[in-house]
Amino acid sequence: MAKKPSSSFVCQSCGSVYAKWAGRCDGCGEWNSLVEETLPDSVPGGLSKRASKRGRQIEFVSLDGASENIPRHISCNKEFDRVCGGGLVPGSAVLIGGDPGIGKSTLLTQILAALSRQSGVRCAYISGEEAVDQVRLRAKRLGLKGDDFELASATSVRDISSTLDQVDGPRVVVIDSIQTMFVDSLDSAPGTVSQVRASSHELINLAKARGFCLLLVGHVTKEGVIAGPKVLEHMVDTVLTFEGERGHHFRILRAVKNRFGPTDEIGVFEMSEQGLEEVANPSALFLAERRGNVSGAAVFAGLEGSRPVLVEIQALVSPSQQANPRRAVVGWDSGRLAMILAVLEARCGLVLAGNEVYLNVAGGLRISEPAADMAVAAALISAAMDVPVPEETVVFGEIGLSGEVRAVSQAESRMKEAAKLGFLRAIIPPSRSKKNCKSSTQGLETKTIEHLQDLVALFAARSVDKARG
Ligand code: TYD
Ligand code: MG
Repeated sequence: MAKKPSSSFVCQSCGSVYAKWAGRCDGCGEWNSLVEETLPDSVPGGLSKRASKRGRQIEFVSLDGASENIPRHISCNKEFDRVCGGGLVPGSAVLIGGDPGIGKSTLLTQILAALSRQSGVRCAYISGEEAVDQVRLRAKRLGLKGDDFELASATSVRDISSTLDQVDGPRVVVIDSIQTMFVDSLDSAPGTVSQVRASSHELINLAKARGFCLLLVGHVTKEGVIAGPKVLEHMVDTVLTFEGERGHHFRILRAVKNRFGPTDEIGVFEMSEQGLEEVANPSALFLAERRGNVSGAAVFAGLEGSRPVLVEIQALVSPSQQANPRRAVVGWDSGRLAMILAVLEARCGLVLAGNEVYLNVAGGLRISEPAADMAVAAALISAAMDVPVPEETVVFGEIGLSGEVRAVSQAESRMKEAAKLGFLRAIIPPSRSKKNCKSSTQGLETKTIEHLQDLVALFAARSVDKARG
């Protein structure tokens, strides 16, 4: 039998393993992503030929046994604590991903300082990217005192685990970033799939064994996914992403996976000279620059996790001479825009084929809720007909392919937030059950739209009114 090769080629994008180098990964289609890596037996995923020893018997227990309820570490940073599901869980691993320069190190520095100050939790910050002086400089800029948390610059996982492997060690540890860490038993460079996998494996096991909370910073690739194998996201308990547009000051922390709390919860921060500040009322911030009574703008009453968030959706429709007019979207799904344009054309007779269409979610927020469909449609119709959406109105509702408007979840809390911010009217979908008909509109004047045609008709009527003066 041929000897097993000591190295193999691993795709840095999806983690597929090949015996030979190739220009393109068959697994994910990425070009130039295969890197030679050695896979010794100790690596998780490495094919080991361990002797087949009989294992220990495991013991089964019933569901309703007493479970230990360990208190969470609360940082008193409300936005951060909410996204984590109510504080950091001891013994858990949290991965925080985000573009370079978005503020991951700043956020974690502030969280550690808050944790040690507010809750007296012993914290450590291990930086593999920056020298101690650079971290100090940042801390100084953030107005932190010297004894807030412990600081070190290291990249060797062996050194880090020997240091942390003690009973009374720090309770919260930040590793900035996992791509700079290396395990010396592997030959491959830091940042490669096997290094990231082995380093995280070792650090996470130690965190579980010693009961400290591990916060790992992860880089993202140009496509916006956390670099390294998907397996890293499976290994940790919580995955948070820190996002924001470069030109904006808003930063959004989003839970995409959380074993100890709800996902899709967001925390909103504003980057200032003194670091990241919590934004308690994001709707007010996203609507701050809104100008009333212009065509092509609709306010969407959205929901991010448990929290209602109002944002403005802007559309621009302009005639084009090109065979394939441009469609550009910021902050929303372009496929979903194509669908709404098709429904407007096929079901409502509003033809936008010869026009360029631009759609923008103001403030740098990314919306993924289908409930935004009707707000997008309202902005598009308003832009196409050059008629403003009725004043002080919020819009929400999902649109189906036949043009029918569908109910969305938590209509009441959306309207409640709108009323709180001084909106007077709401364009809404029919409610899901007849029983719910009487559900409170929170003092808003509501207009129920059952089919997208009704929305087009509403704007057409306003257009006639406008022409009459
Ligand atoms: P940083 O936390 O280093 O980003 P990351 O770790 O995600 O790469 O943040 C870097 C940016 O944040 C940098 O462009 C400067 C800006 N910043 C402020 O605007 N105010 C501040 O108080 C700090 C510390 C940083
Ligand atoms: Mg950083």
